Amino acid sequence: MVVELMKEAKCIVIFTGAGMSTESGLPDFRSDQGVWQTESPARVASINALNEKSEQFFKFYRTRVQGVRGHKPHKGHHILAKWQAAGIVDTIITQNVDGFHTAANSSDVLELHGTLGKVHCQNCQKEYDNIMYEKRAYYCECGGVLRPSVILFGELLDDGVITQAVKKSESADLFIVLGSSLTVSPANQFPLLAYKYGAKLVIVNEEETPYDHIASSVIRNEKIGDFLARIDNELND
Ligand code: APR
Repeated sequence: MVVELMKEAKCIVIFTGAGMSTESGLPDFRSDQGVWQTESPARVASINALNEKSEQFFKFYRTRVQGVRGHKPHKGHHILAKWQAAGIVDTIITQNVDGFHTAANSSDVLELHGTLGKVHCQNCQKEYDNIMYEKRAYYCECGGVLRPSVILFGELLDDGVITQAVKKSESADLFIVLGSSLTVSPANQFPLLAYKYGAKLVIVNEEETPYDHIASSVIRNEKIGDFLARIDNELND
């Protein structure tokens, strides 16, 4: 079913969430082992937590920076990059901040929630490598606080990225969701927008999502890495 849809499609957009990176060893957020089972976003990942320069904020993001520095893309990321290079996939829109799609050589990835790859000064905007957090160096030369270049809870997404993601979602005729609970707005509006503009939806996710009922295909009992490897084989048959 999915291979047929991919062969018929003229513009395939891939939309990934944290479930895309669990097979790289990074936890997702809302499944049983998810980050939010033991942490509260408001306490550790919000603009308020940053403004209070809370130890919890620094500790939480130091752990996440160490996570992305200590892990790498898996076979699924590389298959998506191969499909994009071959012109099979047009664009990857991701909620993930691990940079693994780019690290796997995907191009022009739309990172809705920014990236842990860099930190920048909240005061003067100067950018630094994320190793600063590894070293517990949390302040800029100007005295301002350094924060990961991610969208914190309570912050708006980048206008440029949103505009691009809207354009791509509206032009997709096949929109494939990989590893997202589709519960966080506005990111979860992109699959809906694509559907409203006539795209078929495919959802690969171990748990139910609010959009399963409008999907042409829902794959629940296959890990994303295995799914992508199987489809890659079928495309080459
Ligand atoms: N294969 C298939 N599905 C998987 C896999 C896997 N290997 N691993 C996890 N999943 C599924 C989980 O069952 C879960 O439903 O991926 C989904 C991930 O959902 P969330 O943890 O909610 O992550 P996501 O949808 O990306 O969260 C969106 O919330 O906390 C914010 O900014 C954060 O970008 C994040 C946003």
